[in-house]
Amino acid sequence: MPLRIVVTGASGGIGSALLRIARSRGDFVVGISRRRSEADVHYDCDVLDIQCLKQAAREVGRVDGIALLHGHGDPKLWTRKVEELDANDFFQVFGVDVVGSFNVVQAFLPNLSSGSSVVFVSSTPGLVGDVYGIPYAAAKGALIALARSLAKALAPVRVNAVAFGPIETGWVSWISPQELAAFRERTILKRLGTPKEAAEAIYWLLSPASSYVTGHVLVVDGGESL
Ligand SMILES: NC(=O)c1ccc[n+]([C@@H]2O[C@H](COP(=O)([O-])OP(=O)(O)OC[C@H]3O[C@@H](n4cnc5c(N)ncnc54)[C@H](OP(=O)(O)O)[C@@H]3O)[C@@H](O)[C@H]2O)c1
Repeated sequence: MPLRIVVTGASGGIGSALLRIARSRGDFVVGISRRRSEADVHYDCDVLDIQCLKQAAREVGRVDGIALLHGHGDPKLWTRKVEELDANDFFQVFGVDVVGSFNVVQAFLPNLSSGSSVVFVSSTPGLVGDVYGIPYAAAKGALIALARSLAKALAPVRVNAVAFGPIETGWVSWISPQELAAFRERTILKRLGTPKEAAEAIYWLLSPASSYVTGHVLVVDGGESL
């Protein structure tokens, strides 16, 4: 049966790939991002604007799944050293990634049925840490705790997370060729993942094919974190 899914970060690299997969399978997609997306219905909500999200939820009706693909992507925070970071850097990233994800789930709660599935998006630094992007790593770790907490709180709605390694989207466009080569080298498969490979993992968790999987973190990183 076709799914009705909400995709945040719908204008982004992995979000667009998920839209294409869902469309090819006949699903109905509600896109959320500040820039327009190719979704069937699009809402240009900031994930920190709870009223905008609630209005979207009132309009779209039943939802079978939510993919939380938005993410704070300011490269400046990535390269800042420990002594250069301040509280605001953490508030910014935690605001968009963690509070924003919670806002979306809370706004769409009335639309979810017992068979629905929610997918949070984390990252390998959220599992193993990193010397770069420390606020990002901390927020991505927090998202895993949030996903597992909501898996307990919202059951039988399923709540899972994916932890991506380096995926070839605009998000990595600001990384130097040398650093990208190092990312590649750190994976066992010796390459970056494609947006489609990342989106397929999310689609599996959204779909009834994963109906007995909840509170899980699916690592999609070409073996980077091993
Ligand atoms: N690419 C990678 O290597 C990689 C690795 C690990 C994890 N991830 C995670 O995977 C997710 C998707 O990444 P991507 O590579 O597809 O990134 P991307 O192309 O930069 O997309 C990021 C998306 O987040 C949305 N967004 C950012 N701030 C927002 C806000 N305040 N309100 C609403 N939407 C907001 C952007 O939409 P607008 O600007 O239109 O609002 C955009 O659609 C992110 O959570 C990222 O951290 C990516």
